[in-house]
Amino acid sequence: MRHLVFVAPKFLENTNRYLAGFAKLDGLKVSVISEDPSVAIPGALKPRLTGGHYQVKNPLDGMQLAEACRSLARHLGPIDRLTGALEQLQLPLALAREFTGIPGMRMAHARRFRDKDEMKRVLRQAGVPVAKSDLATSLDEVSALARRLGFPLIAKPPAGLGSKGTFRLESMEDVDALPHLGLVPSKDSPVQVEQFVRGREFTCETVSIAGKTAWRSGTRYFPSPLEALENPWMQYCVLLPREEQGEPWSRFAPVNDAALKALFAGASPEAATALTHMEWFFTDDDQLVVGEVGARPPGVNIMPLNSLAHETNLIEDWCELIAFDRFTPKPRKWAAGAAFLRGQGRGERVVSVQGLEAAVEAAGDALVELRTPKVGMPRASGYEGEGHALVKAPTTEGAKQALLGIIQRVQVRYG
Ligand SMILES: Nc1ncnc2c1ncn2[C@@H]1O[C@H](COP(=O)(O)OP(=O)(O)OP(=O)(O)O)[C@@H](O)[C@H]1O
Ligand SMILES: [Mg+2]
Repeated sequence: MRHLVFVAPKFLENTNRYLAGFAKLDGLKVSVISEDPSVAIPGALKPRLTGGHYQVKNPLDGMQLAEACRSLARHLGPIDRLTGALEQLQLPLALAREFTGIPGMRMAHARRFRDKDEMKRVLRQAGVPVAKSDLATSLDEVSALARRLGFPLIAKPPAGLGSKGTFRLESMEDVDALPHLGLVPSKDSPVQVEQFVRGREFTCETVSIAGKTAWRSGTRYFPSPLEALENPWMQYCVLLPREEQGEPWSRFAPVNDAALKALFAGASPEAATALTHMEWFFTDDDQLVVGEVGARPPGVNIMPLNSLAHETNLIEDWCELIAFDRFTPKPRKWAAGAAFLRGQGRGERVVSVQGLEAAVEAAGDALVELRTPKVGMPRASGYEGEGHALVKAPTTEGAKQALLGIIQRVQVRYG
């Protein structure tokens, strides 16, 4: 029986879906490390978690995870897999594996998927197209890079998340304004500066087993996450097309393969068994450029969208992949999409939500899930807004129209 340790760190709705996925697998002993006490584990899952539980103060501290693993291994037997779904956990997990000898990704490879500068260095070296970029440790260095690379530029933290702290720079005035936006380059916290890529933004989700591609899927962002953040009134949508081999995804497949081959180079078979989430651009001058890659399940509802489109539960499929290095690709049956419902106007709370009924009616059979923003909710900080809708349709155009119908009708106001 394999022994898998899952790092929660809190028993929130999404985390519990992953925990449930592991709990469901036969032949697997599941232990849990969390910041939350064991009483917070959902009651329905407890009987299936046949391993142990270990509470840590800080789950982002790899040494605490290592200590927890040592204790769990002492009481319950050797650990075969140590995993967690959150992006911020990937480096601490790698550190803990390194200190305990648990198979899986080590620091060197985890860094390639977490540190945008290191990632681009590896990709560039392998001849994979990426934006020109460099790290700046002072405002002067940002200015020097601006002269070298030219405007517009993107400035962001090298290990950012949710596009927080990502800014577009158009001029030297924008460079000088960076500290006011909270981005202060220093030796300890350098800023990633990149040439701005003009184009449409897509994703590529890939299942790799021992470094070989077993499955690939992709979505398109409408608009890009950065545009959604720059324009708070915009509703952000993610569309997963009906066609598995459609353009430009098929054209991107060899770029995706080359990128993953470079990033996984030198990794053990267990370390190169992963679901990766790559963001990429189809540029205005017809180039395919890799933006960034994470070695963990994607956010922005891409997991449920793939579940809908392939009539599966991709979270459970991911759990099986991580626990047993197994993945059964399913044919795509539907197009699917997610619309994020965000408020408009000033103010810190939702004061009105209109057009829901009309949106539901317009979406008709295509609507699969609607999480409505509610009056009184605090303003959400990111592009995911206060609510969302999931749709599925027999055609890509059908899913697209359903998304449009929803975002054109629902109006959320802040006040
Ligand atoms: N070089 C670039 N050219 C054009 N747009 C960019 C560039 N780098 C980043 N962006 C925009 O900013 C967004 C956030 O950048 P990035 O994905 O690197 O950061 P992140 O914090 O990991 O974001 P997220 O968690 O939302 O994926 C991208 O999705 C894209 O819209
Ligand atoms: Mg990103």
